[in-house]
Amino acid sequence: MSVKDKLDLNRIPSHVAIIMDGNGRWAQEQGKMRLFGHATGVEAVREALTAASEINVKHLTLYAFSTENWNRPKEEVEGLMDLLVKTIAGEVESLHNNDVRLTTIGNTNELPDACRFELQEAIKKTSKNKGTNLILALNYSSKYEIRRAIKAIAADVKSGTIGLNDITDELIQNNLYTAGIPDPELMIRTSGEIRISNFLLWQLAYSELHFAQKYWPDFTKEDFFQAIYAYQNRERRFGMISSQVNDNS
Ligand code: IPE
Ligand code: IPE
Ligand code: MG
Repeated sequence: MSVKDKLDLNRIPSHVAIIMDGNGRWAQEQGKMRLFGHATGVEAVREALTAASEINVKHLTLYAFSTENWNRPKEEVEGLMDLLVKTIAGEVESLHNNDVRLTTIGNTNELPDACRFELQEAIKKTSKNKGTNLILALNYSSKYEIRRAIKAIAADVKSGTIGLNDITDELIQNNLYTAGIPDPELMIRTSGEIRISNFLLWQLAYSELHFAQKYWPDFTKEDFFQAIYAYQNRERRFGMISSQVNDNS
């Protein structure tokens, strides 16, 4: 029996975010090149996306490349960019056929031309799709995203377009890359690391966090469902007390 059968389909998170971590270690522990781990990680992306689509998760955000990842050895960065181009080009048809809409968050302007081109094409082709919104975090930094929002808002205050009292949580939210997308109810990180690594700092304020031991290339649909199941067994209190949020009280 799949854990999927135990899920309450009325309480599926609308947005799940994943830090896909552990590709390098997965490969190195088998005496293989780190890039082999990244390439195998694409398989796990398919697993997570299929699982998310099957249970109608509306938004799936995958942390694919952070601004800090530029500091890795040149061959690894080049290999990752190459993999991104090939993966997008190779998957776009299947994404489209599965009604998936592809979008990105992060400073994609700084990505190599070939990446920007493939992304633009895929985003355009899938823009009208109504299924899962696959959000790739690419050249993403949450601190940068917040700084960018502050600058945009400060410019509007300076020009007199808005006043200080117009700065609300909603306005800040609307100036983030994730404008219009609900905050993730659930954030999953693989590989056993227990940190956020500059990912969605604002948006994760009240998310449930799920840390899986497995390295990303080993992550399966079943692991995804398991994370959703664990999420459904948590009590989200948002600062209140149990009896206030408990259905049975
Ligand atoms: C995650 O796997 C993929 C990226 C960050 C691009 P890692 O490459 O971080 O793998 P580990 O954490 O070194 O094992
Ligand atoms: C986070 O993983 C970034 C991505 C998964 C793209 P890292 O492997 O880069 O994070 P740290 O450096 O271990 O925190
Ligand atoms: Mg890592």
